[in-house]
Amino acid sequence: MLFSKFLENRRSTREYSDKMVENDKLEMLMDFAEKLQSGYGNDGIRFILYEDGEKIYENLKGVAGYAGVMINSPHYIGLQTDNEDKETIIKAAYAMETLLTKAYQLDLGSCWINIMDTPYDSKEILFNGKNKHINYIVAIGYSKDKSKISQIANSNGLENEDIGYLNTIRPFKEKKYFVEKSTSSRLSVKDIVFDSKFGKSIDPDELDKRGLDELFYYVRYAPSNKNKQPWRFILKNNKVNLAVIDPKDKNNLTDAGIMMYYFEEMAKSIGFKSSWDFIEGDIQEEDGITFSILGEYKL
Ligand SMILES: Cc1cc2nc3c(=O)[nH]c(=O)nc-3n(C[C@H](O)[C@H](O)[C@H](O)COP(=O)(O)O)c2cc1C
Repeated sequence: MLFSKFLENRRSTREYSDKMVENDKLEMLMDFAEKLQSGYGNDGIRFILYEDGEKIYENLKGVAGYAGVMINSPHYIGLQTDNEDKETIIKAAYAMETLLTKAYQLDLGSCWINIMDTPYDSKEILFNGKNKHINYIVAIGYSKDKSKISQIANSNGLENEDIGYLNTIRPFKEKKYFVEKSTSSRLSVKDIVFDSKFGKSIDPDELDKRGLDELFYYVRYAPSNKNKQPWRFILKNNKVNLAVIDPKDKNNLTDAGIMMYYFEEMAKSIGFKSSWDFIEGDIQEEDGITFSILGEYKL
C-alpha cells in the first residue's frame, strides 16, 4: 500500500474482538520491537508486552486513558524509558509508532493510552525494574468492527469532557492538498505550515512548486494526544523546522516524535532521503502561543 494511503486511513482502534492474537504473530511483533529498541542502544527505551490484557484492564480501568476511560483490549504494549529527557521522549514515541506500523501490517489495530496522570500504585504492575517511566501503553488486538466508530464516547468518564477529539470521522476527502479550512478531523496545511518564521502564512504555489504539498497534506493524519495536533512546520530555503506548541507538556513532545516518524516515512515515499536532526530550541512566544523548535529536516 502507498504510504500516503496508509497514513490517511490509519486510525485508532478502541473496540477489540475477544480473539487473542496468535502467539506467532505476537512473537513476530515483539521480535521487531526488540530489534527496534536495541537500535536505540543506551537510550533506555523498552517495549513490554502484556499478554494477559484482562489483568491489565482490571488494574487500570477508571484510572488510565482519557478521563479514566481505559480501553479494553486482549493485549497491551508498554513504552518504558529510563528517563524523561526531551530527546528520550521524542525517540521513544518515534520508536513506538514504527512498531505500530508493523502491527498494522500484521492486521492488528492499536490505540495509544495515556497513563501520564495515573497514580504510581495503579501502574506499578506495568514496570520492569525500578526507577523506570511508563507514560503510555498501547492497546493491541483485532478490531471488533473495522467500520464502526467507537462507543467510548458514551462512557461515564467522559461525561463532562469535550470529546470532539474522539471524532475521527473523515466525512469526505478534501479535493485539494491545500485548503483554507479543513473539513476533516485534522488542521489544514495552512494552519500548520509557515513560511520562514513561525506564524507567517505560506503561499500554496510555493509548496506545489517545491513538490511538498502532498507531504504536508498526509502527515496531518498522524495521531496525537487528544487529537491536539501540536506540531507546526517552518519551511526555509533548504530545510524544514519542526516546532511544537507548548513544549512543557510532555504529551506534545510525544506527538512530535510520532510526527517525525511519519514525516520521514512520507518524505521517503516521495523521494527525500533525509532524517530529522534534533535541535535544542529555546521556548519562544508568538501571538501568545509558546513553542519550541525541536528538529531540522534537510530537503
Ligand atoms: C500520545 C497519545 C496518547 C493517546 N491517548 C489516548 C487515550 O488515553 N485514550 C484514547 O481513547 N485515545 C488516545 N489516543 C488516541 C488519539 O485520541 C487519536 O490518535 C486522535 O484522536 C486522532 O484519531 P485517530 O488516531 O483515529 O486518527 C492517544 C494518542 C496519542 C498519540
